[in-house]
Amino acid sequence: MKFTLEPGTEFIVGLPGILIISLNYLSSGLFIQKAIRVVPRCSRPLDGGFLFFMIKFFGGVFMGIKGKLKNMEENIKDVFKKINNLDELEKLRIKYLGKKGEIADVFSKMGELNAEERPLIGKKTNILKNKIETLILNKKQELEEKVKRDRLKAEKIDVSLPGYKPLIGHKHPISNVVDELKDIFIGLGFSIAEGPEVESEYNNFEALNIPEYHPARDLQDTFYIDDSYLLRTHTSPVQVRTMEKEKPPIRIIAPGRVYRSDELDASHSPIFHQIEGLVIDEEISFSDLKGTIETVVKSLYGENRAIRFRPSYFPFTEPSAEVDVSCIVCNGEGCPLCSYTGWIEVLGSGMVHPNVLKMSGIDPEKYSGYAFGMGLDRIAILKYGIDDIRLFFENDRRFLHQF
Ligand code: PHE
Repeated sequence: MKFTLEPGTEFIVGLPGILIISLNYLSSGLFIQKAIRVVPRCSRPLDGGFLFFMIKFFGGVFMGIKGKLKNMEENIKDVFKKINNLDELEKLRIKYLGKKGEIADVFSKMGELNAEERPLIGKKTNILKNKIETLILNKKQELEEKVKRDRLKAEKIDVSLPGYKPLIGHKHPISNVVDELKDIFIGLGFSIAEGPEVESEYNNFEALNIPEYHPARDLQDTFYIDDSYLLRTHTSPVQVRTMEKEKPPIRIIAPGRVYRSDELDASHSPIFHQIEGLVIDEEISFSDLKGTIETVVKSLYGENRAIRFRPSYFPFTEPSAEVDVSCIVCNGEGCPLCSYTGWIEVLGSGMVHPNVLKMSGIDPEKYSGYAFGMGLDRIAILKYGIDDIRLFFENDRRFLHQF
């Protein structure tokens, strides 16, 4: 088919169509696209860029097979470059290699060519077909790789990310002090004993040589469960329980919570903590008490701390002594913490009263012993520089997590 149009020929076309005219100049083997002039029926002139696009797009429709082949050869790589997924690739495969595809179309039109051209174009078409097959294969591999990579990427666990941290608890400063003291005492040959916080009135007072109307009971007023049970006011009833249960030699400590009906303020709490100590054996003397207390207090507060034993009174020890250490803040100079005395009281102690031994079934003629009790809250306050005892009981994580 060969026809010529005079340049400048006008076509009036109706909306929305436009007319594209392709001239296939086959005899020279060159493909020429040429739009003559297209005038839409609407008044707005057609835009040149759009026209060019339409020409390119529909151009192929009117092409002869050589032009079509050449066009495919030139553009095929670009066509494949634009493919982004396997579906598109399959559509393209059908478009080119399918039964009614472009390559099949070229082959079917071989008859239009003359005998000379036929083998040449046939060969070219086969080469192009192979090329397309290779392109498809490569693209397929590339896309499959990409799918795999994307999947692996999506499934990837970033092990460098910190995991979700469960909110774990934190050791209470009082527990730190208890653990430290346990270590010290276990090192000295003590073992750990325990007693209940709800205690009998007998163990808490009576068996410790504090009879019903003894004024010492007033100093340790507490919370009563009923007439004979109360919240223990000190850890000393564990002395009684141990002596009733075990035969000397006894060497125990008993840490625990104790109660008194004190008003709550920065330095007083109705709940606080003590650690009790009890040693019973033959020929235990006050110097054993002194030696042990000195060792413990120095390992707790430092070697250079001055210690003094001050005579005192407890109904369950005789003689009794309270132990002071030189003030942690002022080193004995005098400051508000030590009430300007230079000393801080850290524990009560004494030789176990014969009445106490007797009541618990231990022969005071054969055995003697010493006992002591220290306030753990006081130790923690001094150790960590805490200025309010109430913080120990508020369970505020901001406070607790500092230790
Ligand atoms: N239990 C006494 C108190 O709480 C302390 C103490 C214990 C004193 C053992 C002497 C012997 O005050």
